[in-house]
Amino acid sequence: MVEDASSIETALDSFEPPWVVKRDVLAAGKGVTVTSDRNEAHDALVAGLGQDGFVLLEEHLSGEEASVLVVMDETGYVCLPASQDHKRVGEGDTGPNTGGMGAYAPAPVATPAVLQRVIDEIVEPMHHHLRNQEVPYRGCLYVGLMIDSQGTPGVIEFNVRFGDPETQVTIPLISSDLAELLLACAEGRVSDIEVEFHSYYAATVVLASEGYPAPSATGRVISGSEIEMEEGEIRAFVHYAGASFDDAGNLVSSGGRVLSATGIAPEIGEAVAAAYEVIGCIDLEGSHYRSDIAYRALQRV
Ligand code: GLY
Repeated sequence: MVEDASSIETALDSFEPPWVVKRDVLAAGKGVTVTSDRNEAHDALVAGLGQDGFVLLEEHLSGEEASVLVVMDETGYVCLPASQDHKRVGEGDTGPNTGGMGAYAPAPVATPAVLQRVIDEIVEPMHHHLRNQEVPYRGCLYVGLMIDSQGTPGVIEFNVRFGDPETQVTIPLISSDLAELLLACAEGRVSDIEVEFHSYYAATVVLASEGYPAPSATGRVISGSEIEMEEGEIRAFVHYAGASFDDAGNLVSSGGRVLSATGIAPEIGEAVAAAYEVIGCIDLEGSHYRSDIAYRALQRV
């Protein structure tokens, strides 16, 4: 942790590039700078110090990202299916970081062997720590992972909340009663309940306002988003985020990530296709979405 501008150079010397500079605050998924340019890393450290009074400088982890949402209380925990988010704004994971432009689950990179390591090496110790707090944690622990080519999981971040858009692709895969799980968590009874999952895949594609992730357009009318599709076991529907109604009752954009279209299907390709079928029916002037969500999973099929 860097708390003083005079220690920046020494801190930078203690890591190999690329440097990872991270604000340890809520930053809408945009609090991290990863760079091999020492001046840029220096500037990010100075900016973080100015904003928060402290900033983290971390080891760079390489590999493939995955997220595991863990619903926990002091009695136990339930890992939801591992998902993979797409944080960059552009196709092929290019361009600036965003809060997430799409996701899918279960993510094949999190094989059963990887997941077992995640549980043994990360979830169990964190649960042990959190359950032994004076006020034990009850809620969702978001475990942001980097999985290297050997299948070794490293932690990028923990959040004490669900993820966006990871939630859109994990909650629909729960086949048992979600409300029962959340109530049990709130009341400290997680170990008493059985949580079951569909053997389906889910994929979600985020529609963002013009300009996002920079300050983006608001107040534009959204049309076509009432669409839902269902064909046999394949379903797709819309989740709203940065949307609201204006005084005239029109559905309008109100923030960067406006909505997402989520497909659920027995195969990952079908889930992705269903999500794109729905998002293709929605009109919002200047909006954009990535056309390659789940490309890593589709390459593995
Ligand atoms: N999608 C990243 C996050 O929710 O933090």
